Amino acid sequence: MKAVVFHSIGDIRLDEVPDPQIEQPTDAIVRLTASAICGTDLHIVRGTMRGMKPGTVLGHEGVGIVQEVGRDVRNLNRGDRVVIPSTIACGYCSYCRDGYYSQCDNSNPNGPESGTAFFGGPESSGPFRGLQAEWARVPFAAAGLVKLPEEVSDDQAILLSDIFPTAYFGATLAEIAAGDTVAIYGCGPVGQFAIASAKLLGAGRIFAVDTIESRLNMAREQGAEVIDFNAEDPTEAIKRLTGKIGVDRAIDAVGVDAVTARSGPAAKIDRNQKKHFAEEVKKVAPTTNPEGNNWIPGDAPSQALAWAVDSLAKAGTLSIIGVYSEDLESFPVGKAMNKNLTVNMGNCNHRTYIPKLVDMVRSGIIDPTEILTQKEPLTSAIDAYKAFDERQPGWIKVELKPPASSVGFV
Ligand SMILES: NC(=O)c1ccc[n+]([C@@H]2O[C@H](COP(=O)([O-])OP(=O)(O)OC[C@H]3O[C@@H](n4cnc5c(N)ncnc54)[C@H](O)[C@@H]3O)[C@@H](O)[C@H]2O)c1
Ligand SMILES: [Zn+2]
Ligand SMILES: [Zn+2]
Repeated sequence: MKAVVFHSIGDIRLDEVPDPQIEQPTDAIVRLTASAICGTDLHIVRGTMRGMKPGTVLGHEGVGIVQEVGRDVRNLNRGDRVVIPSTIACGYCSYCRDGYYSQCDNSNPNGPESGTAFFGGPESSGPFRGLQAEWARVPFAAAGLVKLPEEVSDDQAILLSDIFPTAYFGATLAEIAAGDTVAIYGCGPVGQFAIASAKLLGAGRIFAVDTIESRLNMAREQGAEVIDFNAEDPTEAIKRLTGKIGVDRAIDAVGVDAVTARSGPAAKIDRNQKKHFAEEVKKVAPTTNPEGNNWIPGDAPSQALAWAVDSLAKAGTLSIIGVYSEDLESFPVGKAMNKNLTVNMGNCNHRTYIPKLVDMVRSGIIDPTEILTQKEPLTSAIDAYKAFDERQPGWIKVELKPPASSVGFV
């Protein structure tokens, strides 16, 4: 089958790889009908999420049709349409039973202390072969796969595999209640869904911070009050627009590839700050392999976190869903502590939220395809990665369509 394969930092290719097989009785084989590219995949190719094993199939967002199930998968039939949660979880350990699927004790072959198990990630996450492919092996399929009703299309469902649940999880971690003012850092796909989720939870006002025009426009269309950090100092603007109070809740939907301002008042940082960011970059991305405008890591890994802490009101809540590697150790703990902030964070427990979001989409409460801007064939995946990585105008969320030639059970 065809799949997007990680070769080395800055080198991904569309390769021919062997079809997956059932390996465990709890596995299912799914023929993918949709996949997508996530900001996390960009961290991987830029070198800010390290430890990838060359040869790993990338991708952790998928929708498809069950082709085959192992003998311990009792709730699915061949031919069922399903959405695949990005994270892999057993469904029976104490963490899974409590809803903390991303902290499952059993799904990561490296052991219970090794971190979240997910498709297409670094060696420490499994590694499991990813979903930017024609076929996938889904471990613990009975506990993971969520059946899709006919009314929910593939284009809608692909957004329920990772980014909508992540953003909804982020809004929940932010403890958003009716009337709250909320700041969302990052208007990529996750940030866009964080805006939508904050609305669903009844936020009073939503500020959205980024610098990419098409992304700020989409945020504004959703009703957010937008702030371009290359034109204004985001914390100063938020303070001014909230009567000097700051926001009740903030969500970091940026992660380790954060950049700092290049122009405007926020660009005036002192030499110490510049040095500090440069040291962080060296730590989180010791090896990089840029190619023209592609695969360039962010220049200020802790910038979004710092702005978020500064823009929060006293006793506010910070939710961190942007991904950081263990190499990033700086966080303004003193400022956060002295403002009595609550900080919640983590990898999404996808399976906890997906069934509820499927219902919301089916009932028409929300149409996630408003955030889907690109549909590309899997065969053009490398060009699509490059356009998304460069943040070309309008390239906000990219769905990948596997070739129709991968015929299986339909
Ligand atoms: N926690 C989870 O389980 C989970 C799941 C999925 C994705 N993620 C993470 O969410 C983050 C966002 O994903 P995405 O797909 O939207 O990525 P993306 O790269 O498309 O979007 C990031 C956005 O942040 C903006 N940005 C950069 N620096 C900024 C700053 N200092 N302040 C404000 N905005 C800034 C960029 O311009 C970009 O629009 C990534 O870190 C991704 O790894 C986490
Ligand atoms: Zn993701
Ligand atoms: Zn478990």
